[in-house]
Amino acid sequence: MDDTTDPPTPPVEPPAAEPPAAEPPIGRTPLSRRRVLGGLAAIGGISAVNVGGFLWAGGWFTPETLTTTRFTDRFEQVFGRHDGFRRNHAKGVSATGVFTSNGAGTVLSTATVFRPGTTPVTARFSLSGGVPTVADANATVRGLGVLFHMPNGEQWRTAMVNTPVFTDRVPQGFYERLLATEPVPATGQPEPVKLAAFLAKYPETARAMALINKTPPSTDLYNSPFHSLNAFWFTNSAGTTVPVRWTVMPDEPFQPVAGAAHPPGRDYLFDALIAKVAQGPVRWRFLVTVGQPGDPTNDATQPWPADRRQVEVGALMIDSLQTEAPGNARDVNFDPLVLPAGIAPSDDPLLAARSAVYARSYERRTREPHTPSAVDVTTVETRKASYEH
Ligand code: HEM
Repeated sequence: MDDTTDPPTPPVEPPAAEPPAAEPPIGRTPLSRRRVLGGLAAIGGISAVNVGGFLWAGGWFTPETLTTTRFTDRFEQVFGRHDGFRRNHAKGVSATGVFTSNGAGTVLSTATVFRPGTTPVTARFSLSGGVPTVADANATVRGLGVLFHMPNGEQWRTAMVNTPVFTDRVPQGFYERLLATEPVPATGQPEPVKLAAFLAKYPETARAMALINKTPPSTDLYNSPFHSLNAFWFTNSAGTTVPVRWTVMPDEPFQPVAGAAHPPGRDYLFDALIAKVAQGPVRWRFLVTVGQPGDPTNDATQPWPADRRQVEVGALMIDSLQTEAPGNARDVNFDPLVLPAGIAPSDDPLLAARSAVYARSYERRTREPHTPSAVDVTTVETRKASYEH
């Protein structure tokens, strides 16, 4: 194990603790964030954040109320249960590299990661969905998780995607969308009536999907941008707090996909990434966008105006990929609420739900038997040869 790899994150909730009927609804309580942070702080010196404000109007506590368990079960209902794998973003590859800060971020945040210098990172490239062997497809949402290993055991974890906005404003919308967009066997498409009813109930998702459809993905993972989408607060040494979102922009020129065309192979996106990193490090510029009063911090379906100030705070460099295995990114929970001093969560209701559901997914997958990941870094040449000849 090298020094960029942290020990496997311990399960954040006791393994046998899946609450049966009386689990608190998502967003109505701080869930188990204090326990989560307490456990993490014990191993990683992670600063506690104030989660008391993450209240989501979840309705009265009825059998229909959304809970962490129900949300996690919904992923299994739609994608099946795949032991040892993430309930979402199941297909992926582990990565390591460094973040090199240019110092410009210190104007916005006291986080030590923004002081000039380098910070080792553990990262993971992924595709959304709960099927670990799914075939790569251009339209599938791509993910990048990054864990910054800061001095004194402090950590910053972020999980970003390539779409310009998120599909859902509230956790309940995501939960219902999973069923509403499930393809029916006869057509391979969602059931039109069900989908229309869902979009009528969640018009923000219809608007977000229109924006996403207008933004073609790039040909590859290594020339793709990735966005935080959720907003956070940065506080600097003068005590000034500003709302921010962040994006990593690839140095490789963005090349839009042409329709559904793509190279052969089930794992063409991952195979190309593995081949690229084998040639040398791949770099993304790290850009922090500063919001203005009135920019929504609690709605990831809405973009901020394009003219907002952007501060380039440094670069993320990925120089090695690893097949998912014990001790690498396989065993990291890229919980977006693990934040260093100087960065705090916004009032976005997705954040508390993400944190709770990632923890439940993590808890389940770490106690299940593991089968090898579909993306095997060492066999990429064999795979490529099999479809090229
Ligand atoms: C209520 C909202 C959301 C829910 C319930 C949800 C659920 C999940 C779950 C269950 C996992 C697997 C966690 C694990 O086992 O470690 C996951 C992974 C991931 N999610 Fe979400 N998600 C939500 C919103 C988002 C948003 C807004 C983004 C991006 C801005 C995002 C990006 C990702 C990425 C990149 C991963 C993979 C991280 C990794 O490699 O471990 N998710 N999500």
